[in-house]
Amino acid sequence: MTKPVFILNGPNLNMLGTRETDVYGSQTLDDIADLCNDKAKTLGMIVDFRQTNDEGELVNHVQEARQGACAIILNAAAYTHTSVALHDALRMADVPIIEVHLSNVYKREEFRHKSFVSPVAQGVICGFGAQGYELALDAAAKLI
Ligand code: DQA
Repeated sequence: MTKPVFILNGPNLNMLGTRETDVYGSQTLDDIADLCNDKAKTLGMIVDFRQTNDEGELVNHVQEARQGACAIILNAAAYTHTSVALHDALRMADVPIIEVHLSNVYKREEFRHKSFVSPVAQGVICGFGAQGYELALDAAAKLI
């Protein structure tokens, strides 16, 4: 059976649609999940789309991806900039990892310029809003 692409979303992304819409846009996370499912269909892939506000749970999802996923698309949100635990889990993942951010983190505060995900990711897509997830699926399709 084909393994899904895990699309993992970190803290506060469940608030999309109402959260700082000038930065993150007006689409909800459900809208983005729909976009991803549609895009995946065109690529002959399936996605397992998840969100958690909990760092440990995000680590558990990455550990699960080792066996259960063909690739990881990860918007770790604020944990991107803080989590050594997430970095360590990703190092073990053994599947392609694509880091995504809705906003261009390099145009924003300096604390967002540091990523614990980037050193273990195949590549980074940021600043294209929800379209970044679709671009990441294109990249995943090429990598797997
Ligand atoms: C984000 C950027 C992060 O700096 C921030 O903490 C988020 C969202 C983005 O998608 O642009 O929560 O990952």
